[in-house]
Amino acid sequence: MAGVVLKNLTKSFNKVTAVNSINLEILDKEFMVLVGPSGCGKTTALRMIAGLEESTSGDILIGERLVNDVSPKDRDIAMVFQNYALYPHMSVFDNMSFGLRLKRTPAGGVWPFNSKKTFSNDEISRRVTEAAEILGLKPLLQRKPKELSGGQRQRVALGRAIVREPKVFLMDEPLSNLDAKLRVQTRAELIKLHRRLGITTVYVTHDQVEAMTMGDRIAVMSNGIIQQCDKPLTLYNHPTNLFVAGFIGSPAMNFVKVKIVQDGDKLIADAGSFKVELPADQANRARDHVGKECTFGIRPEDIYDKQLIALVPSTPGNTIKMDVDVVEPLGSDVEMYLKNGDITLISLIDSASPAKMGDSIEVVLDMKKSHLFDTQTEQALY
Ligand SMILES: Nc1ncnc2c1ncn2[C@@H]1O[C@H](COP(=O)(O)OP(=O)(O)OP(=O)(O)O)[C@@H](O)[C@H]1O
Ligand SMILES: [Mg+2]
Repeated sequence: MAGVVLKNLTKSFNKVTAVNSINLEILDKEFMVLVGPSGCGKTTALRMIAGLEESTSGDILIGERLVNDVSPKDRDIAMVFQNYALYPHMSVFDNMSFGLRLKRTPAGGVWPFNSKKTFSNDEISRRVTEAAEILGLKPLLQRKPKELSGGQRQRVALGRAIVREPKVFLMDEPLSNLDAKLRVQTRAELIKLHRRLGITTVYVTHDQVEAMTMGDRIAVMSNGIIQQCDKPLTLYNHPTNLFVAGFIGSPAMNFVKVKIVQDGDKLIADAGSFKVELPADQANRARDHVGKECTFGIRPEDIYDKQLIALVPSTPGNTIKMDVDVVEPLGSDVEMYLKNGDITLISLIDSASPAKMGDSIEVVLDMKKSHLFDTQTEQALY
């Protein structure tokens, strides 16, 4: 078993710095997700861990061994790609065992190429059978890829990685070719698989829902930099900057440009007709920003219709008049676009709300769950 450590890892392609001096310690048995928008450097980081891309500078350790100069096949890793090309003319068994068969012990002889590891037919068969059992592929071992569904093919690609019994799994968007339902199902299977095998995994995705549901921890990347690395709920509750706050959560957090104004002991986040009072704890952390422009953040799920019996009691400091602009029923909730001057808030309101398009309603913000950012540095004040 092995953890993975990245130290000041950088990769530049001519003028583009794809990965910019990242530091990350992935623990033994951990499921670490790298998430971020397209082009932020996720694949490049993963390919450097795999040894498929040479780093420009920095170090990579796998299980305490410095692997900067170790070739991919000797790093004890297995990689699963988005495009899991299977050999079309080979059966599932042969696809899964292909990598091992390349290193098969030759009949009656010693492997001629001085390879460190060779596998007997029995060993190959044991590994493939075990992996097929885990993945529910046993009845399909003799089929060809074209006789499988997309999800089954993806499982064969996983099987091919599992039979190598690697110290580390590297996965680059392995579910993105599957349809929505199958993606959710395979996601759950991958989580179970990880629990069962306990193999350190680095999983790349641009989908924050996938990241939130799968990761023990998540490293949020943008522009080649790790913005924050933490447990899913810590990222959700305490984003360290505007980027993470806007990236984690769906629908995304609402942001409102405000001025911090002192009113006696109280601090008000003031955007003209949109005014809210900061709770005491939060106010204490914002005192040195009085008079400055800040960005106030509130998640759609932390906005309530005052007409309903709410978890959060209405006070003058947390209640705002808004016009209902658009109403989109989602089932248990309604996504409501609320307008106040040129401020728009997206809210998730209980579908018991009678509010209709064109109504003017009062909404209650759960201020304890609100966020405040320095607009200039984009860093969270709390
Ligand atoms: N071989 C290359 N040559 C030049 N630039 C590259 C190369 N590979 C990647 N890049 C650039 O490096 C940056 C990071 O690319 P990377 O593929 O790591 O992004 P990503 O986060 O995996 O994005 P996606 O979600 O779209 O897969 C991008 O700006 C990309 O254009
Ligand atoms: Mg990529």
